[in-house]
Amino acid sequence: MAHERNKSIIAIYPGSFDPVTNGHLDLIARGAMIFDRLIVGVTQNLEKDALFSVNERIEMLEAATFDWKNVQVEVFEGLLVEYARAKGASVILRGIRAVSDYEYELQMAMMNRKIESHIETVFMLPGEAYSFISSRIVRELARLGGPVKGFVPALVEERLRAKLS
Ligand code: PNS
Repeated sequence: MAHERNKSIIAIYPGSFDPVTNGHLDLIARGAMIFDRLIVGVTQNLEKDALFSVNERIEMLEAATFDWKNVQVEVFEGLLVEYARAKGASVILRGIRAVSDYEYELQMAMMNRKIESHIETVFMLPGEAYSFISSRIVRELARLGGPVKGFVPALVEERLRAKLS
C-alpha cells in the first residue's frame, strides 16, 4: 500500500493554558517552525480549577502569538482527536519537560491513538530555561504574591496582577 504524505501538515497544540507561559510560547515557536499550520486548541480542563475564563486565556494567547502568521488560537470542546480530525490535523503537539510528564503524556497519546490511529502525537522539548515552568506554578506564585516576571509574557503578568489584587 502506498503511503501518502500530507502536503500541508496541520498540528494541534492542545492545552488549558491557564495562563499561557513562556514555556508554551517556546513550544509554539518550535512547532510553528516545523508545521505548516499550528492551531493552539484551548479547552476547559474539567479536573483543574480555572483562574482565567476560556475567553481570557484565548485573548492572552492571541496577543502573545500575534507575530506567528501560521499560528491560530481556537477553543475546542469534547474529544481532542475529534477536534483534530475536524480541523484536518494529522499531528497533536505536546511538550514534555521532565520525566514526570511522561507517564500522563504516554497515557493520553496511546488513548488518542486508539481512538484515531491516523493522528500522531509529536513530543517536543521546551528550551532548558522553561523546563520548570508550569501554569499551575505560575498561578500559585501569583496568588502568593511571588515574582512571575520572566515566566509569562508581560500581558499575562499584568492580567495576573489585576485578577489577584
Ligand atoms: O495543558 P493540559 O491541561 O495538560 O492539557 C490537557 C488536554 C487539554 C490536552 C487534555 O485534557 C485533553 O486532550 N482534553 C480534551 C478531552 C479529551 O480528548 N480527553 C481524552 C484524552 S486521552
